[in-house]
Amino acid sequence: MILATERRARGGGSAGLGAPPSGVVDLWRLRLDLPDPRRAGLREWLDDSELERAARYRRRLDAHRFVAGRGQLRRVLGGYLGLDPARVTFVTGLHGKPSLAGPAARRLDFNLAHSDGWALLAVTAGVAVGVDVEVPRAGFGGMDIAERFFGAGELRQLRALPAAQQEAAFLRCWTRKEAYLKAHGAGLSMPLDSFEVSVAPTPSPRLRWSRDATARRRWSLLDVSDPAAGYLAALAVPEPRVAVRERRPEEGLERA
Ligand SMILES: CC(C)(COP(=O)(O)OP(=O)(O)OC[C@H]1O[C@@H](n2cnc3c(N)ncnc32)[C@H](O)[C@@H]1OP(=O)(O)O)[C@@H](O)C(=O)NCCC(=O)NCCS
Repeated sequence: MILATERRARGGGSAGLGAPPSGVVDLWRLRLDLPDPRRAGLREWLDDSELERAARYRRRLDAHRFVAGRGQLRRVLGGYLGLDPARVTFVTGLHGKPSLAGPAARRLDFNLAHSDGWALLAVTAGVAVGVDVEVPRAGFGGMDIAERFFGAGELRQLRALPAAQQEAAFLRCWTRKEAYLKAHGAGLSMPLDSFEVSVAPTPSPRLRWSRDATARRRWSLLDVSDPAAGYLAALAVPEPRVAVRERRPEEGLERA
């Protein structure tokens, strides 16, 4: 079943979404656990490669969440571009970062992250963006990972905290580092100890140090965690001053 709203978007998408102005990141906090009829509507926009990928997930829940994420990604991007969501096309960078194909790539950049039942989608115009989200899991063993891969300064910040606070602090650090990596699109080709971020709980974390000597002046990190929803999250943008514009899933699009 296709919802009426999704059918309307099929007729050319919505003209309702203005591209984010310079220095602004549009942030979409999307739920991935959707009722079957909604997910079925979103699924209709996926292309063959996305449907093949959905079919490869072993757990049905993971397949459902992938479909919900990709469908909503297409819907939002189609809303900005004035395109039917099924006609949004992607290319994949050297290390796997998806971006828009063709002339649309000059208008918008985006990055998607998901964890459990949440996806965060960040959209910018004319500048790269990276986002990460993590729902804490019991027994994750974050400090072991930090000892092996994080920078010495980050490790010092983490070890200075009481043990009971270390796991949450590790995840804050992780999401900030991952957002930075994802903005570069470099994946794991960029060593995790080639830059360091601040660990303290603040909306405006800092890039404390980088092998790239100019990066500290240029980059902004933002903590966009939602404690009520139960996740930690961060954004990274290569601009010295950046504001976040929270977007609601229905805003500027046909109502879902
Ligand atoms: C793939 C990677 C980008 C992140 O993977 P992840 O944390 O498992 O997943 P996220 O939910 O944050 O992001 C996945 C999405 O990012 C996008 N993505 C994929 N490769 C990307 C890349 N190289 N750069 C930016 N974004 C990428 C895709 O949209 C993907 O969504 P999809 O799976 O629906 O296609 C990559 O950085 C990686 O493998 N990281 C491993 C984890 C790690 O060591 N992190 C260190 C943090 S300190």
